[in-house]
Amino acid sequence: MAELGFEVIGVDVDPQKVAILQRGEVPFYEPGLDEVLASNIAAGRLRFTTSIEEAAAFADIHFTCVGTPQLAGAQRADMTQVFGSIEALAPHLRPGALVVGKSTVPVGTANVIAERLAKIAAPGVEVAWNPEFLREGFAVEDTLRPDRLVVGVRSQRAEDLLREVYAPLLAIGTPFLVTDFPTAELVKVAANSFLATKISFINAMAEVCEAAGADVAQLAEAIGYDPRIGHRFLSAGVGFGGGCLPKDIRAFMARAGEIGAEEALTFLREVDQINLRRRSHTVDLALATLGGSFAGKGVTVLGAAFKPNSDDVRDSPALDIAVSIDNAGARVKVHDPKALANAARVYPNMTYEQDVMSALKGADLIIHVTEWTEYRELDPQEVAKVVNSRHIIDGRNTLDPAAWRKAGFTYRALGRPNA
Ligand code: UDX
Repeated sequence: MAELGFEVIGVDVDPQKVAILQRGEVPFYEPGLDEVLASNIAAGRLRFTTSIEEAAAFADIHFTCVGTPQLAGAQRADMTQVFGSIEALAPHLRPGALVVGKSTVPVGTANVIAERLAKIAAPGVEVAWNPEFLREGFAVEDTLRPDRLVVGVRSQRAEDLLREVYAPLLAIGTPFLVTDFPTAELVKVAANSFLATKISFINAMAEVCEAAGADVAQLAEAIGYDPRIGHRFLSAGVGFGGGCLPKDIRAFMARAGEIGAEEALTFLREVDQINLRRRSHTVDLALATLGGSFAGKGVTVLGAAFKPNSDDVRDSPALDIAVSIDNAGARVKVHDPKALANAARVYPNMTYEQDVMSALKGADLIIHVTEWTEYRELDPQEVAKVVNSRHIIDGRNTLDPAAWRKAGFTYRALGRPNA
């Protein structure tokens, strides 16, 4: 918003986070975000506070961008932050303020918030729902050049305000879709469910390829030339993770059950299962590669983040696989260019290496699970000199099998038994 020219206050309940942001630093890894943050602070358009009163007194439009993680021990979303932020903001809002929800929520949430604000907020306070579609690693680009903007509104005034907010993006031709509340809420979970389904579809094909002796990478390339299918999100491997796709499909199923549409989404259970099976299959493949026992074997796991260009380890397939193999008795060393601090916070007892060659030293098996460019650029001949035994499993199908084999490695990949 500051980059679009608005004056912005960012509010967070965590004083430490606010202090870091106010210094112009980003408390997580997101390419390009630090430059945008620093330049807008320097230009005087952006500042941060823990005071919700200050923000309420200052702004005409309030974007609530809090998380909706999976509720511990359940499949549905934990809505504490959404309702907590609304309750905190409501009493301080100026008459006519617009509250715009960005969070991924169970359908029906915007309506609940609107009813609540009608009771406890100043007259004329309105709600709109404007889901966020950004990808980690491309957050700046996806925000400043989004594929589309979706706004769920109940009045012309709310629509007009959001058209004004997004005027620079509308000027560059961004599609702007105006919907009701439930449609806007559903667009987000439907989009993420479709993406998860596409990944699990190709991973199901990987399972079939493994049984049939076929090659899923070639299969994906071949079907992707059909423009109705397309090549994107058709990479087979250890599957999807992160703070969105896994918990969103689970919360969507849970919500569908609550509103009487459970049957419509039972296929997402399969999507989730196929995805999780890829992780256990990778562990099985590692075990088979090491001759049936992990005991005392050195296993180097390349990657901890759920995807490259991120330091996010939430529901990371990479870390999940590393932990399973570590628990099974191997001496696991994990490397990641950015995510080790976060990984160590979640699993403090595993061994982490900052330097990739040190991580590879003495390995009996290498497992490549997050496709950072750095791993594609490794020289297999150099790696061959430091490992104990030459075995590699490519969990992302992005390494060059010929180069690794030439250096004496056995190369195994998911869905490509003969690659
Ligand atoms: C996702 C959505 O893409 C985004 O629109 C939404 O706003 C938030 O959720 P993100 O979680 O950042 O974004 O990651 P994404 O790029 O979608 O990747 C999700 C997972 O799928 C990663 O673990 C990735 O490695 C995996 N993936 C992706 C595959 O396994 N195969 C693919 O072909 C593509």
